[in-house]
Amino acid sequence: MGRQRIFSGVQPTGNLHLGNYLGAIRNWVEIQDQFDNYFCVVDLHAITVPHKSEMLAQDTYKTAASYLACGIDLQYSTIFVQSHVSAHSELAWLLNCITPLNWLTDMIQFKEKALKQGENVGVGLLDYPVLMAADILLYQADKVPVGEDQKQHLELTRDIVDRFNHQFGKGSKVLKLPDPLIRKEGARVMSLTDGTKKMSKSDPSELSRINILDSPEEITKKIKRCKTDPVKGLVFDDPERPECNNLLTLYMLLSGKTKEEVATECADMGWGQFKPLLTETAINALKPIQDKYQDVMNEKGYLESVLREGRQKASEIANQTLKQVKAALGYSMP
Ligand code: AMP
Ligand code: TRP
Repeated sequence: MGRQRIFSGVQPTGNLHLGNYLGAIRNWVEIQDQFDNYFCVVDLHAITVPHKSEMLAQDTYKTAASYLACGIDLQYSTIFVQSHVSAHSELAWLLNCITPLNWLTDMIQFKEKALKQGENVGVGLLDYPVLMAADILLYQADKVPVGEDQKQHLELTRDIVDRFNHQFGKGSKVLKLPDPLIRKEGARVMSLTDGTKKMSKSDPSELSRINILDSPEEITKKIKRCKTDPVKGLVFDDPERPECNNLLTLYMLLSGKTKEEVATECADMGWGQFKPLLTETAINALKPIQDKYQDVMNEKGYLESVLREGRQKASEIANQTLKQVKAALGYSMP
């Protein structure tokens, strides 16, 4: 039997931050050698909120370069851009027509984003999870490694699979049921300025997040200014101390130490001692990623060839699934 397949993606909106890295990409890298992996830059999702057209192409390249910089290895993984494979848009339309509207209006992320945006929310924002389902299902993915915030979208994807196979499969499973892969640690990295909110690209405050390409000076400044509490001694999992838990978790993940090691090391520390330690650890952990990123960005031709090859490999699989779905729905083409 061949390897199981993994599919995941990140939107090319602004810079990737520690939430994207620790919640998603780092996990892709860790397990890539055991799977057949497809990592997509989801640029069709990026226009579901108002976007700057002059930035889209550049941001798409930067995100693809970040995948390579974080350690995605082309020996095991295919990197490609969503808009390069038209089957994504086409399957999204077909799935739209079998997805009940109330499944979409119930999505937490839609409600949050719609609320933030106010008037004139695009239909695409509501439809976002159906496009995401199309992404995953085109590749018949077994596993989808994501952060905690995508759990509900994965559940919706599974509901769409069940509904499609039940209505049109005639006993066979045209679409494969994917499993989410959500690691406990790092699945929800919180904002540096409010430990009860998740770290997010759309937070207006730059101080709320550490981007993977931040300079040592920026990292130093952000950690120096980050929110803490007046309690002495640092502990995990105290619901009264969300910032403390978040910063210790960041230290644990970036240093590669275990939870027990960090708990012992930091038990008697104050913030004045811990902050420089976290700063140094973050700078050292991100340095190799930043160096590799510069190398990749300096070789645009290489990156373009990676994406061209990715597009070809992805298209082959995607078009095959699309054909099966269309046949199941009753379409025929001479
Ligand atoms: P996005 O930036 O929304 O395209 O998210 C890309 C990936 O990063 C998804 O798998 C998200 O679940 C994950 N992610 C985004 N923000 C966070 C966060 N604060 N903590 C953990 N994972 C996150
Ligand atoms: N919705 C995901 C996010 O913002 C990105 C995404 C789009 C995705 N399509 C996907 C993730 C398919 C996993 C699989 O985080």
